[in-house]
Amino acid sequence: MKILAIESSCDEFSVGVIENGKILCNVVSSQIEDHKQFGGVVPELAARLHVENLNWVLNEVKEQINLDWATIDRVAYTAHPGLLGSLIIGKMVAQTIGMYLNKPVVGLDHIEGHIFASAINNTFTYPALALIVSGGHTQIELVRSPNDFEIIGSTIDDAIGESYDKVARVLGFNYPGGAEIDKRAQLGQPTYQLPLAKNDQSYDFSYSGLKTAAINLLHNLQQKQAPIDVNNFCASFQKAATEVIQMKFERAIKEFKPTTLTVGGGVSANSKIREMILQLGQQYHITNTIIPQFEYCTDNGAMMAQLAFEKFK
Ligand code: KG4
Ligand code: ZN
Repeated sequence: MKILAIESSCDEFSVGVIENGKILCNVVSSQIEDHKQFGGVVPELAARLHVENLNWVLNEVKEQINLDWATIDRVAYTAHPGLLGSLIIGKMVAQTIGMYLNKPVVGLDHIEGHIFASAINNTFTYPALALIVSGGHTQIELVRSPNDFEIIGSTIDDAIGESYDKVARVLGFNYPGGAEIDKRAQLGQPTYQLPLAKNDQSYDFSYSGLKTAAINLLHNLQQKQAPIDVNNFCASFQKAATEVIQMKFERAIKEFKPTTLTVGGGVSANSKIREMILQLGQQYHITNTIIPQFEYCTDNGAMMAQLAFEKFK
């Protein structure tokens, strides 16, 4: 069973191929440099650049694995959620390939793809408890099988990655600045006071309050021309952003008793989040605690290929 999968939900156009459960390739075209000047992703530009990039990505896939198109058994693509224009490009490419090869085409969920990124070179047991932290999402999901997902909790406003990127912008970091905050946080101490958002008994999250509090504090200090210890500020923000996740994820472990613990999405590259998942896995004796390889944290075709394979299996 050979599956070719396309991911195009935001500013990456990516194609991954999986054969009998083994990822053969993962080619990603990133538009970060194109959107940097605007401080965020411009949807119209993202879709137009997908059209420009899709040819070389497909050619690169063909070259890397010496692909004979006729050997593809099915085609998968990210159907939702995402930027509409970006999603449509991926769907059209998938359907064109499927029609040409006369093979089935399946539309998949992007978040489910992020969850199964860590199943690449690993095996999930069920139920699995997954934390999804990205530029667009903050969720806890209970996975009973690759075809049975339950959202336990979700953000009621901004996503964690979005708040990282907005705060990073005020600190003068390049877009997307999440990784830079993480790098600086590891060099500092959490000396600034920032609120813990939605510190309650629900499994939901909120990041707009923390984002606004952090930005207001920075603006205040900048106006007073007071010195800002950037490393300490980043450490304080990182602590506030991850502490509520830790509390809620731990409570979910106790309630749902998963046999697999995992994390996915761009922010799963974050040092504090990775450390936290591994530590919780150890504390609750969940031997199947898996964090994704860095290349599969941000949007990529391989995770969609893995998801398509797991669903097919
Ligand atoms: O999953 P992704 O590529 O796109 C969405 O589906 O949203 O996630 C991108 C997000 C960005 O907000 C970026 O700043 C964040 O992941 N990110 C990080 C780190 N690396 C990437 N945030 C915090 N710490 C990191 N190390
Ligand atoms: Zn994503």
